[in-house]
Order: sequence, then C-alpha cells, then structure tokens
Amino acid sequence: MIFKRLALLCALLAAGCAAWRMWGGIPVSAGPAPQRAEIPQASPERRAAALFYSDLGPDTVDISSYPPEIRRDYAVYARICASCHTLARSINSPYVGRSWWEFYIASMRMRAHFHGRPLSKEDIGSVLDFLEYDANERKVARAAQFEETKAELKRRFEAVLDERMEQLQRHPLPEPSR
Ligand code: HEC
Repeated sequence: MIFKRLALLCALLAAGCAAWRMWGGIPVSAGPAPQRAEIPQASPERRAAALFYSDLGPDTVDISSYPPEIRRDYAVYARICASCHTLARSINSPYVGRSWWEFYIASMRMRAHFHGRPLSKEDIGSVLDFLEYDANERKVARAAQFEETKAELKRRFEAVLDERMEQLQRHPLPEPSR
C-alpha cells in the first residue's frame, strides 16, 4: 500500500516537474510589446574601436524616470566605468546580477588601474546599486525590447567584423621579418 502511494507521489512529482519546465519555471514578465527600437548608429571611431557587440549600442541611459538616489549613482558609474571603454559596453551587455558586477569590479585589471587611487567602498556601492537597478528596469522588466536591441547590435557587429576582414584582405599585414 505504502509503495503504491509512493509510486503515485513520484509520478505526480515527475509530472509536476515536466509541467514546470514546459511552462518555463518562474514567470518572467516580458513587459510591454517591443517597439521597433531606433538604435542610433555608432560613430566610425566607436565602430573601429569595438571589441564587443555591446560597444556599438547607446552609451547613455535615460535616467529621467529613475529615483533620485539612483540618478546620483549613475554619475558615479559614468565617471568610473567610462575611463577605459565607453559606457555602451556595460549598458548593452547581457549581465544582470549584482554578483557578476561585484566579481568584475573586484578583478585584478580594475585594481591595477586604480592602483594609487583605489575605488572607495561608497563608489563601488553606488556603481553596483546603479547597475542592479538599471538592469532590472531595462534588461529584465523590458526584456523583449532589450533582446531586440541585442539582436540588432549583434547583426551590426557581424558587419563590422566583415568590414575588418575585407580590409585585411585588401591590405594584408606585412610579412613578419625574421
Ligand atoms: C582598467 C580599465 C577598465 C575600467 C576602468 C573598466 N573596464 Fe570594463 N573592460 C576593460 C577591458 C580591457 C575589457 C575587455 C575585455 C576583458 O579583458 O574583459 C573590459 C570589458 C568589459 C565588459 C565586457 C566583459 C565581457 O566579458 O563580456 C563589461 C560588461 C565591462 N567591461 C564593464 C565595465 C564596468 C561596469 C566598469 C565600471 C565598474 C568597467 N567596465 C570599467 C577595461 C576596463
């Protein structure tokens, strides 16, 4: 009897898991229907310097609807995160979680760069607060629109890579001298 009940329980659990998976697990709001995003073309300089598709996207965030403390955090973020590459790299990157950004900021490269004028705990906190809030607003709540922008930037980046390849073929690098 007990075995029958156990078997029934297992079957129910398995069915439940399958339904959960089919249904997609935790519901993620796709937000309002995606608008055809008009993404401005990056300048020739930015196209030339691009290392990631994200580099080709917008390099500012419209923070007009963000709360005042997050707007202050944005100023700190814009100061710290635009010193080596444009803000576009993080604005259009797929990263969402605070822990990814914590890991990134703690990386050796960042520490070496700020050697001598280390980032204060407050500044790091502000950058993380901004990145977390902004990601939830643009990348999670408006996921459909963000995905569309991402796809478009990837297409543009492919085109940039093709251009670079053509240029290389037209002007091959000089033979290395021995
Ligand atoms: C010391 C110079 C420097 C600073 C300052 C800097 N970055 Fe970067 N970042 C780089 C370099 C170089 C890369 C190229 C790829 C690599 O080596 O990870 C990069 C890559 C990235 C990437 C792409 C990583 C990937 O693997 O997809 C993101 C996102 C990013 N940076 C965000 C930020 C944010 C946010 C800040 C501010 C907290 C910041 N960066 C500040 C140098 C910097």
